[in-house]
Parts: sequence; structure tokens; C-alpha cells
Amino acid sequence: MDRFAPLRHRTIALVGLMGVGKSSVGRRLANALELPFHDADAEVEAAAGRSISDIFNDLGEPAFREGERRVIARLLDQPAHVLATGGGAFMNPETRALIKARAVSVWLKTDLEVLARRVSRKDSRPLLKGKDPLAVLQQLAEVRYPAYGEADLIVETGDAPHHVTVDQLIRALSAYLADQAQ
Ligand code: S3P
Repeated sequence: MDRFAPLRHRTIALVGLMGVGKSSVGRRLANALELPFHDADAEVEAAAGRSISDIFNDLGEPAFREGERRVIARLLDQPAHVLATGGGAFMNPETRALIKARAVSVWLKTDLEVLARRVSRKDSRPLLKGKDPLAVLQQLAEVRYPAYGEADLIVETGDAPHHVTVDQLIRALSAYLADQAQ
């Protein structure tokens, strides 16, 4: 019996703050489950023909948010896959409702200090440009955690390597879906 079979019926949507590993863990999870992987940020960039930084600079954040909403709605029409959302996507009530209806949502959560350390390694995130990452993450956490808390599952990752988080996710998803099937 293929123990991953029950995990291939629904899209698995990863939500949570920047730096928590939605894309890197999502890609590995998709590989392990032999599901397609989609990264909403990458798809928004492909649709706009420019980087997220350039979208923010040239068109503004509202244009990015609108593109993100459309891209995620389109992706959720696709057959079951692993979907890494951008950190702000689940804040849009329409997107959140759509994800809740069409996917199993998982909030990947870890300490803000861990996230701040990770996001400091890259300067591609417009919300962090020229700012103290920990302070931004603290503000975002305050606003976003209530919405992230509406995800079907919460997986606390600590600072574990990605493969450990993938195993943890598979266990949590298996238990959740088995419960739902009862
Ligand atoms: C954002 C997170 C980013 C990207 C954009 C805005 C946010 O995605 O969508 O920079 O609002 O938290 P990641 O969470 O993949 O870094």
C-alpha cells in the first residue's frame, strides 16, 4: 500500500511568514509525494514578466496583491499539487476562502528570530528593504497570525533542516486527512 496515496487527492497550500520555508520545504514535499509544485511568487513574476521587487517598485503593492490573488485562484483550479503561497496571500479574505475550500492549508510557523536570521541573507523582499527584519516580522506577525491561525493545520518547524520539516508535514497531513476521512 502506498502510504502517500491519501495525500495526493487535495492540493496542499503552505502559508506563513517570509523565510519560514514555504518554497523550499514545499518543493521537497512535492518531490516526496510525487505531486506537482507551484510557487505563487514565481508565477506572479512570470505573469508580470518582472521580479517581485520590480512589481512593487514599478506598479506598487496593490498591483502585486491583485496579481497574487488572480494567480492563486488560477493555481487552485489545477489538479492536486503543493502550493507555496507568498507570505501576504492568506491575508486576502477571498484568497483565504478559496484556499480553505480547495486545499488543505498548513501554517508553517517558527520563531521570529529564526525567520529574521534567514531573511537577512537575501535582499529580494520589498517589505524588508532598508528595514530591521525582526521589527518588520514582529509587526507582520501581530497583524497576520490571527488569519494564519485559520489554516487547517499548524506545523511548528523550529530551526529544523528542510527534510525534517517535510517528514513532520507528512505526519501531520496524514493524521489530519485520516481524521477527516472518518
Ligand atoms: C510577502 C512575502 C513574499 C512575497 C512578497 C510579499 C509578504 O513571499 O510574496 O515579497 O507580504 O509577506 P515569501 O513569503 O515567499 O517570502
